[in-house]
Amino acid sequence: MKSEWYIDWFDSPYYHVLYKNRDGIEAEKFIHALNQFLAPKTDAIFLDAACGKGRHSIFIESLGYTIDGFDLSENSIEAAKNHETEKLKFFVNDIRIPLKVIHYDFVFNLFTSFGYFESHEDNQKAINALTESLKTNGVLVMDFMNCSKVIDRLNVNETKEIDDISFKINRSYKDGKILKDIEFEADNKNYKFQESVMTITLNDFKTYFEKANLKIEAIFGDYNLNPFDIEASDRLILIARKN
Ligand SMILES: C[S@@+](CC[C@H](N)C(=O)[O-])C[C@H]1O[C@@H](n2cnc3c(N)ncnc32)[C@H](O)[C@@H]1O
Repeated sequence: MKSEWYIDWFDSPYYHVLYKNRDGIEAEKFIHALNQFLAPKTDAIFLDAACGKGRHSIFIESLGYTIDGFDLSENSIEAAKNHETEKLKFFVNDIRIPLKVIHYDFVFNLFTSFGYFESHEDNQKAINALTESLKTNGVLVMDFMNCSKVIDRLNVNETKEIDDISFKINRSYKDGKILKDIEFEADNKNYKFQESVMTITLNDFKTYFEKANLKIEAIFGDYNLNPFDIEASDRLILIARKN
């Protein structure tokens, strides 16, 4: 059976090469801004859902909080586990399944770790599972791309040279999805991957959240938490509370 693209690509070492600029420094800056806004109590418990190698989780723990991170990628979780402490634990888990139920004060889903499924039903399942893992009055932070701007300014072809690998990238928009074809040669082999992210709009999120009993409290458009502007913002960052 063909494996889903998001299993193979995110588990490959080359994903981490291509996105190496998405690093701990970016993560720290964003978490600083978020925590200023959210003002978590010192005993707050966090979940970093689809945490990758855990760049946000590691920083949150360094601030003294308790946090779990999970991801579907076994290789990423193996790397993240090197940073485990008493207050920081990592797990392999699918976002459609709650890791723990009614357990967290804050659930984060950061840097477009959403939109990979083929259907709104699966998206809803994931939002429901994240909500189930929150305590009542707990807060979900969903950090997605602003699809409207991405489609408007689609940079069709691009080559990125990183760590002696030449990544040839072609972006397109088809059937409600933003597709990114990535081709490169590495370790004497040719590789081809395709990222495929559903163009989920603010209205789609409003529908998912309403069904999950989440109330939106703020909408931001970048990692400095400037207000969301559909034409200009790079990100669509939703802050929603469980009723
Ligand atoms: C763009 S990366 C971002 C990772 C991390 N949040 C960060 O900012 O570095 C998206 C992540 O989502 C994970 N992912 C994809 N589908 C998933 C699923 N169904 N359940 C859990 N994680 C998933 C991938 O393995 C990948 O690590």
